[in-house]
Amino acid sequence: MTEENDSQKPPIGGEVTPGRFGLSAKLLVLTVLFVMLAELLIYVPSIANFQKTGIEDRLETATVAARALSVSEAHALSPQMQATVLDELDAYALAIRVDGMKKLVAMTDMPPPVAREIDIRQLPPVAAIREAFDTLISGNNRTIRAVGPYQGDGEIEVVFSENGLKADMLAYSRNILILSIAISGLAAVLVYFSLRMLLVRPMLRVGRTLTAWLEDPEDQSRVIVPSGRRDEIGEMETRIATMQQHLHDVLKQQRRLAELGLAVSKINHDLRNLLASAQLMSDRLASIPDPTVQRFAPKLLATLDRAITYAQAVLSYGKAQELPPTRRLIALNRLVGEVGDVTGLPAHASIEWVNAVPTDLEVDADSDQLFRVLLNLVRNSAQALEQSGDETCVRRLTVAAERTGSVVKIRVLDTGPGVPEKAREHLFKPFQGSARRGGTGLGLAIAAELVRAHGGSIGLAADGPGAIFEIEIPDRPVPLGEVRRSRAS
Ligand SMILES: Nc1ncnc2c1ncn2[C@@H]1O[C@H](COP(=O)(O)OP(=O)(O)OP(=O)(O)O)[C@@H](O)[C@H]1O
Ligand SMILES: [Mg+2]
Repeated sequence: MTEENDSQKPPIGGEVTPGRFGLSAKLLVLTVLFVMLAELLIYVPSIANFQKTGIEDRLETATVAARALSVSEAHALSPQMQATVLDELDAYALAIRVDGMKKLVAMTDMPPPVAREIDIRQLPPVAAIREAFDTLISGNNRTIRAVGPYQGDGEIEVVFSENGLKADMLAYSRNILILSIAISGLAAVLVYFSLRMLLVRPMLRVGRTLTAWLEDPEDQSRVIVPSGRRDEIGEMETRIATMQQHLHDVLKQQRRLAELGLAVSKINHDLRNLLASAQLMSDRLASIPDPTVQRFAPKLLATLDRAITYAQAVLSYGKAQELPPTRRLIALNRLVGEVGDVTGLPAHASIEWVNAVPTDLEVDADSDQLFRVLLNLVRNSAQALEQSGDETCVRRLTVAAERTGSVVKIRVLDTGPGVPEKAREHLFKPFQGSARRGGTGLGLAIAAELVRAHGGSIGLAADGPGAIFEIEIPDRPVPLGEVRRSRAS
């Protein structure tokens, strides 16, 4: 990405603006609504109960009055006495029914007609609620006849105006409303502030830190510092910090790789030129009649040729990705021999070089790529053998191979110290597997990539005294139609 492109990008995280209502405001409104709803659910049965209790109180007072007056049962009460009783009860009439006989205890001169009758003995909860809302909504100067129990199986009835009852019920409702508003307001304010403290503020902090970090993810000081909370927010902070740290490492590694890629391209470019000059000079060697020179000159030329082709391929491909293999049948014994010659192992002073590949073994592979795979493995083994200082140690490097069906298995064995534990973890990963001073950790990664391109596998066998690397290369699959045709012909 060029700098020009970067400047056209919108600022990361810059456009995220919170909506008109933040989280706390939304919760504030919701809390008010929920508390009001809860209060409403409590209010409905309680107003019904309030009305029922109001009527029961009247009936009880009436019962006490009727009992007190029953002394003079035989006589009707004087109008003055009746007026006093009814005044006390705030009623138009009071009557009792005992043993099936109804007796009017007191009554005003002109009682208004009865509009509703409420029998307190048969008032289930739903009916009580209905009656209460009837009083509140439609109640307007109507007259109620309330009936209740009186002395065992008798009954008492009081006729009164619903106005007083309705006024009491309205006052009760108003008190409940004021209480609800106060409770919901208080709850909402408490929820609002606790939410701000517990959730919104820490989240804003995380958001701000993330925005700052996004502007320069490579700046380690911008990584979020977890607050140490032991709840979900604390966990989120820790996870974000881990993620940022991980991304920071990945970015650092990527930048290193990009820089390295550029450096490799530059080196590769000039190396190709230098190799081409070396090839020119080596061409002249071929004309020297010395037998030793004659033996080595073609090998030197072939190796230089290989190196130039590879350098050219990397350059024209633009990146260090391998070209797909160009597979042919190769005499493996000869290829291993070339690897030995290039590394100078057959003439090595202390390492015994064994090319144990059967001379008639053929492998279906890209010769240059397989050469590079084996060169890397043989070089590693030679380096491992050279490192062990003890003169009494056997230093043998063997390359063996066998064909099983359509798969060729190649083994590179040495009697060295074996692959160190540290190197085993990331053995085939670029830049990560090296445990050798001066090693780049690329050799095995390249070898693995090339083998995989052949559809094969590479691995470290566990059974060696030294190190044993095993490669399996399957032949190219033969199209079924071709096989049938060749059989038929
Ligand atoms: N035959 C072997 N015996 C012991 N250790 C080995 C052997 N082959 C590989 N290793 C270990 O595996 C590591 C990774 O090898 P690899 O070829 O990928 O990288 P390198 O040799 O360190 O560097 P280079 O990129 O130059 O090859 C080596 O550093 C070495 O420690
Ligand atoms: Mg190596």
